[in-house]
Amino acid sequence: MQEKIINLLSDGLFHSGEELGARLGVSRTAVWKQLKKLEEVGVALESVKGRGYRLPLGFHLLNQDSIISGLSDSAFERFDKIEVLSVVDSTNARILQQLSVKAGCYLSAAERQTAGRGRRGRVWHSPYGRNLYFSVSYVFQGGVSAIEGLSLAVGVALCDALRDLGITGVELKWPNDLVCQHRKLGGILLEMSGDAEGPCNIVVGVGINVAMSDHDGVGITQPWIDLQSLRGGLALDRNVLLVCLVNHLVAVLDGFESTGFSSYRDRWLALDAFVGKKVSVHIGENQTIGVAGGVDESGALLLRTEEGVQAIRGGEVTLRMQVDS
Ligand code: BTN
Repeated sequence: MQEKIINLLSDGLFHSGEELGARLGVSRTAVWKQLKKLEEVGVALESVKGRGYRLPLGFHLLNQDSIISGLSDSAFERFDKIEVLSVVDSTNARILQQLSVKAGCYLSAAERQTAGRGRRGRVWHSPYGRNLYFSVSYVFQGGVSAIEGLSLAVGVALCDALRDLGITGVELKWPNDLVCQHRKLGGILLEMSGDAEGPCNIVVGVGINVAMSDHDGVGITQPWIDLQSLRGGLALDRNVLLVCLVNHLVAVLDGFESTGFSSYRDRWLALDAFVGKKVSVHIGENQTIGVAGGVDESGALLLRTEEGVQAIRGGEVTLRMQVDS
C-alpha cells in the first residue's frame, strides 16, 4: 500500500487523508499509519491541517517494469538479473554478495541505502526516493590491468547520458566525481571480486543527487548540488534517468576491454573541471600542491609541481583558493 500512496502523492499536490483513504479503499487511520511508516524511512512528507499531505517536490518511485522496457536491447540482453529494491544496505555490497554465489552481470537499484559506500571508506548519504543509487557488475577477462582508467570512462558515459537528457554543465573531477559549479552531483565507486590476474568481476556503483532537500543533505560535508536544481526546479523521472545512465554505462563496459581508456581520454579532458587550476592532492598523510594538467593515457592525473610534472594514480584532489595579486 505504501507504493500506492506514494504514487497518489507523486504530483506534489495536497491530498486529504479522506481522499487517499477513499482512493485506496481503506480508513483514514490506515492511511495515517502508512504515512507514518513512510516518514520513518525518510520520506519528506509535509502535512498541513485542513489541506492534507503532500510530497513537496513530487515523487516518482523506481519501477522495475519501466526500467526493463526502457533499456536498449544490448543492455537488457547483457544482464543476468535486474532488481529494484526499496531498501538495501548498499547496492555495491548486494551485488558483491550475489557475485560470491555466481559470477554474472547484475543490475541492482534501490530507493534507499542504509550503509551506502563512498570512496575512501566514506559514507554515501542515501535518503529514500530522492536520488539514484545503483550498481552494475561486469566480467572482465583480462583482470585488473584491463580496466585501468575504467572509472574515468564511466564518468564520461554518465556525463554523456545526462547531456542526452538535456542536462548540461556537468563536469568531472578527477578521478571520477560528477560536479557542477564545483559542487558534487554524483560519485562512482568501483569494487572488484575474483582474480586480479584473470577474469574478474567489477562492480560499478553510481550515486547521483536528483532531488535532495536541504534536510536530506544534512550531514554531507562537502558542497553538493542536485539535478532538479540544475533544471531550475523541474522534476525528473528517475526511471528515465536510470535507463539512460545504464544504457550508456553498458556501452562503455562492453567496449572498454578492447579500446582501453585512451579512446575516452579526449572526452574526459573536455569535461575536466579542474584543468589549469591550483590544487592540492592528498595521498595518505602527504600533500602535494600543483596545477592540474588533465590526465594521461592511463587516466593518471598530471600535476605540474615545482619539481616537474607528476602522474598521480590515487588520492584526493582539493581545489585551492586562488589569491589574485
Ligand atoms: C564517491 O565517494 O564519490 C562514490 C560514491 C558511490 C555511491 C554509490 S550509490 C550506489 C553504490 N552503492 C554504494 O554503496 N555506493 C555506490
